[in-house]
Amino acid sequence: EEQSVEVPVFSAASYVCQRHTGQPGHNPLLTESLAVLAESAELNGDEGRGLAFRRSEALLRSLDRRVQGMTDLRGLPCLGEHSRRVIQDVLVNGRSSEVEETKASSRYKAMKVLTGVFGVGVKTAKRWFTEGICLKHYADLNQPVTRDEADSVSVTVEAAVCSVLPGAQVTLAGGFRRGKTSGHDVDFLITHPDEGKEEGLVRKVVACLESRGFLLYHQTTKNTYQESAQGAGRPSSNMDRFERCFSIFKLTNGGDPRDTRRAQEQAEGREPDQTASAGSRPWRAVRVDLVVSPISQFAFALLGWTGSKLFEREMRRWAVHEKSMTLSSHALYDKNQERYLRASSEEEIFSHLGLEYVSPSGRNA
Ligand code: CTP
Ligand code: MN
Ligand code: MN
Ligand code: MN
Repeated sequence: EEQSVEVPVFSAASYVCQRHTGQPGHNPLLTESLAVLAESAELNGDEGRGLAFRRSEALLRSLDRRVQGMTDLRGLPCLGEHSRRVIQDVLVNGRSSEVEETKASSRYKAMKVLTGVFGVGVKTAKRWFTEGICLKHYADLNQPVTRDEADSVSVTVEAAVCSVLPGAQVTLAGGFRRGKTSGHDVDFLITHPDEGKEEGLVRKVVACLESRGFLLYHQTTKNTYQESAQGAGRPSSNMDRFERCFSIFKLTNGGDPRDTRRAQEQAEGREPDQTASAGSRPWRAVRVDLVVSPISQFAFALLGWTGSKLFEREMRRWAVHEKSMTLSSHALYDKNQERYLRASSEEEIFSHLGLEYVSPSGRNA
């Protein structure tokens, strides 16, 4: 190799939120391997270990070229001993035996079924769903949501929101805002330019959607957020307190014979779906999250609900450890100045935190 020993092949900042992380990156084999181990650790309730693998995965995904050998990784942060061992295995043997064994284990496979459907941890899935709901829509929910389907849900949600509160704004958040072409669900953030008008909006929107026959399941929670002198929420709590609705939509394909899902399956060369009898009925179930934020918290809510989870988590860690601030989906609190820092855009929040702005497409950590 021509590469000089002194000049590192790659360099990377140590916090995920200091970097641009796209999808899927230049090292898919490595990142997929680390993702399996991260998942497995998470499923086993070992969060610390899961997080370590997630950080390694994100680091590799942020690299702008393919890793050729272990020497390329010299000086890079976030890569622990275990991750490096796995990477070496894959680089040398084309596969990691630990990853293969993990994937083959029945525990991993069983857990995958559940988390694969909901895109959430097992605990969350159990909390939100009765087994009946889970089984009833299993086949549909197990199918990734396409961008076309997300757009179709957007149209329905916008129509409902607009009819119950004219002037309200609907923003597509979550993975689709980050430019992902498929997802577990569709996330929407709703607000109104006049503070206070948004109160109770979720219930009204849900009632409207329900009356129009678009909901198969919904569970609404009230807004319980209040600013406190102690600062913006507990850093350990990932859950925000917005008024929100966890729902399952009945997405009709509008009688279009070119069902987007079938078209995509064909394009990808997959077998047509045998589990859901989707071909015999003109609709399918899609997970949708609706969240309502007051306009004063909108920038924080948008940042929080755009994700990814790891990106958010790293931003919060950066805030606490590097800036003595606490960041949540509601607010940013400066512990030194003992005051909240307001923001009306995501850019302002990055700037308050002394971070370079990372656009949504770069937050796919
Ligand atoms: N989120 C949150 N509070 C929750 C649930 C989710 O703040 N109670 C945030 C997550 O941290 C994430 C974003 O909302 O940043 C979207 O969550 P989710 O839909 O679970 O993940 P996506 O990134 O959209 O990916 P997917 O395609 O799997 O849905
Ligand atoms: Mn989502
Ligand atoms: Mn979601
Ligand atoms: Mn109801």
